Amino acid sequence: MSGFGGGRVALVTGAAGTMGYATAQMLTAEGFAVALADIDAARLQPMANAIGGHAFAFDVADPEAAEAGYREIVKALGPISVLVNNAGILSNNKAAETTPAEWRKVMAVNLDSAFYLSRLALPGMKTQRFGRIVNTCSLAMKSGGLTAGTAYTTSKGAMQALTFSLARESASFGVTVNGIAPAYVKTPMVTEQLTEEQRQALLKQIPVGRFCEPEEFAHCVRFFLSPLSGFITGEILDLNGGLHFD
Ligand SMILES: NC(=O)c1ccc[n+]([C@@H]2O[C@H](COP(=O)([O-])OP(=O)(O)OC[C@H]3O[C@@H](n4cnc5c(N)ncnc54)[C@H](O)[C@@H]3O)[C@@H](O)[C@H]2O)c1
Repeated sequence: MSGFGGGRVALVTGAAGTMGYATAQMLTAEGFAVALADIDAARLQPMANAIGGHAFAFDVADPEAAEAGYREIVKALGPISVLVNNAGILSNNKAAETTPAEWRKVMAVNLDSAFYLSRLALPGMKTQRFGRIVNTCSLAMKSGGLTAGTAYTTSKGAMQALTFSLARESASFGVTVNGIAPAYVKTPMVTEQLTEEQRQALLKQIPVGRFCEPEEFAHCVRFFLSPLSGFITGEILDLNGGLHFD
């Protein structure tokens, strides 16, 4: 088996989406046994089949469904060594336009799901004395919502705090917890939903002059999973083409 995965089990949420799927592809290429989790069962199954991964359709934002899905994965594939908390929904509404229901929904998908799955995965990772958790954050959280609305921005800011908190509590067990803060990844929003004029206006703001490829996101995940990255924990890696430095 090629790559550094060595048959270890990796779970990616939001795996039927652009960035999650690129990550699942990278993980299978690196020799991981990959569980692709997504709420969209119809899209997920053929995508998982195409890369030799394993599809598990469930709602990561529902604590009972998340636990049942997690247990099904462990039963089918074995203990999870890598968890990529990537499922997310976008809301561009600022505070006054955000309803309480929308706020709760965004928090549930973007933040609560990462907590539910991390708390399930950590005991096994600690027993193995090896684990890697990678959380998908966003430039939005560092920029006061430059690229998104209030609920989304807050959910990603809390994702950073969750990353730091989990990193500290699990560091002595061989488990690292890190995050990635992307901006303007080339997803259907960019390629299909924007007009050419809107695309050009956005490109002008990005110093490197192009959008981020989903494979570049997957490469950041790979970096955190590498055996040589075991000393890096509680790091948020910027992936923003020079839009923001910190
Ligand atoms: N695209 C960008 O430029 C960008 C920038 C910063 C951060 N992000 C973050 O990256 C992640 C992936 O984004 P993407 O652009 O690939 O989006 P996407 O919409 O292509 O993928 C998200 C996936 O999550 C799934 N999902 C949604 N709710 C779910 C639930 N309750 N349970 C299980 N699965 C669920 C969707 O079905 C979808 O397949 C998200 O967390 C997003 O907030 C994206």
